[in-house]
Amino acid sequence: IPAENPVPTPPEVRPGRPPLRSDAWYAGDDRNAYLHRAWMRRGVPSDAFEGRPQIAIANTASDFTPCNAHLNEVSRSVQQGVYEAGGIPLDLPVVSLGETLVRPTAMLWRNMAAMAMEEMFRANPVDGLVLLGGCDKTIPALLMAAASVDLPAVVLSGGPMLNGTFRGQTLGCGTDVWRLGEEVRAGTLTAERFVRSESSMIRSRGHCNTMGTASSMSVVAEALGMTIPGTAGVPAPDSRLLENAHMTGRLAVDLVREGRSISQVVTKESFHNAIVALAAVGGSTNAIVHMLAIAGRLGIDLDLDDVDRIGAGVPLLVNLQPAGEFLMEDLHRAGGVLAALSQVADLLDPAAITVTGRTLVEAVTDDNPVWDTSVITPRSEPLQADAGIAVLRGNLAPAGAIVKPAAASQHLLTHRGPALVFDSVEDLKARIDDPDLPVTPDSVLVLRGCGPRGYPGMPEVANLPLPKKILDLGVRDMVRICDGRMSGTACGTVVLHVSPEAAAGGTLALVRDGDTIVLDVPNRILQLDVDDEELSSRTPPASLVEHFAAPTRGWERLYVEHVQGADTGADLDFLVGSTGPAVARESH
Ligand code: FES
Ligand code: MG
Repeated sequence: IPAENPVPTPPEVRPGRPPLRSDAWYAGDDRNAYLHRAWMRRGVPSDAFEGRPQIAIANTASDFTPCNAHLNEVSRSVQQGVYEAGGIPLDLPVVSLGETLVRPTAMLWRNMAAMAMEEMFRANPVDGLVLLGGCDKTIPALLMAAASVDLPAVVLSGGPMLNGTFRGQTLGCGTDVWRLGEEVRAGTLTAERFVRSESSMIRSRGHCNTMGTASSMSVVAEALGMTIPGTAGVPAPDSRLLENAHMTGRLAVDLVREGRSISQVVTKESFHNAIVALAAVGGSTNAIVHMLAIAGRLGIDLDLDDVDRIGAGVPLLVNLQPAGEFLMEDLHRAGGVLAALSQVADLLDPAAITVTGRTLVEAVTDDNPVWDTSVITPRSEPLQADAGIAVLRGNLAPAGAIVKPAAASQHLLTHRGPALVFDSVEDLKARIDDPDLPVTPDSVLVLRGCGPRGYPGMPEVANLPLPKKILDLGVRDMVRICDGRMSGTACGTVVLHVSPEAAAGGTLALVRDGDTIVLDVPNRILQLDVDDEELSSRTPPASLVEHFAAPTRGWERLYVEHVQGADTGADLDFLVGSTGPAVARESH
């Protein structure tokens, strides 16, 4: 064995083999190609740089994102699949966002994560992408980034955690935190038992096991065609996750060889399918903002009215918390996402394809029986007939607001009541349990200053807690209106994403205590019953304006200056659209 490596054969692009994007770095025998290859060799043979697709595994594993912490193991299985198919796998740690920890809101950083990912995908010798996500904002950020680079890409979700139980009762992540928290406030659960339930809440690796935002976004990714069909919703500890990871690695190499980029897979028809899927599973309202943002990156004309129109009439068939009773592990046992979609196959667009090249409808109609009709109900016996997220308009939300009927109280969907206004989350916390709060079960609780620009970053506070006075009456739901978001694991008659937000000149900033608010979900109306003349004489109160975010530097400043409304996806104005996979000039 010679002491020095033999001089490698220069990896010229062989005649006849299709060029790769990474050839811009690795092909040829000049000094720069040497520089790119030599530093990357470290044990791989020289043919690694000759026609073998370089697959970046965009990995959101992080100890600060506990829901995704197991993705390093998943990445190893992806790597095996990539090697097996003849590609070269490259683990690419990307900005990760832990929904429960990140302040002020994970949503503020979604666009930053997407921007950083996009730039790194483009700046490096990448031919194709495997997108490893899970926790709420990670799959949206990965998809937004991949869309703006428009490379061949495939998503693999890290999967939900297993069901936990506490004192004989199943605990759903998020949903039961809100429920148990209210029980403590109502005096029906001791604080000590509340704290003891922590370790039962999070039983295993994986993301939240309710149909919250993480589960919803894995369903959306699958319905958009961005996963190998059948991989969404496989629990994180299930060994089939690693098998799916292996197969996803193989597929990424095939995608590069076939030249099938994300814009060829995801079309307006794909979003049609995602909206149908989201309604049928009772998915999170957050998914709407993320879908609008992803569509914006792809230049697909999708708006709130499409969401309402396509979702209307889709039955709710999946009985999962927060809208129902079961959890993701139960959905998997009952047949999984494809079995649920098989019940609404006729509502899906037959033309939309998946990353495999086959259509979604073909995959759905393969052989996906329902094994437990209490979890996935038959089409003939839906949990609710019209489960789609409703888009409301009126003088309180000229650009739109949304409500999720599946998570609301049916008797409150048509309601008229006096406003009780909170100008900030701090104001809410200070006064909500005040025994003298002028509130009745008919009051409409308004929380404002919580939009993308105002907070900043749309916190999940729209499901504001009920006043103690009202809880003591045994009432568990009231109409609530907010320009912020609500956790996908929460429920209630909550009108959210009110646009324009208070900080962007929305009418929400002009509401006063006692004004009558009209909610009419069947007719899609959200109206402040105050005449235009009176409204035009009002100005936003100082107690509200002083809470609007005014950052002076860094990402927050960039965000506040450029963020758009929730009605179009809350993306930054200059990040909408795509730059594609263009290779920039050389550094040396
Ligand atoms: Fe990560 Fe819910 S906190 S998915
Ligand atoms: Mg969330």
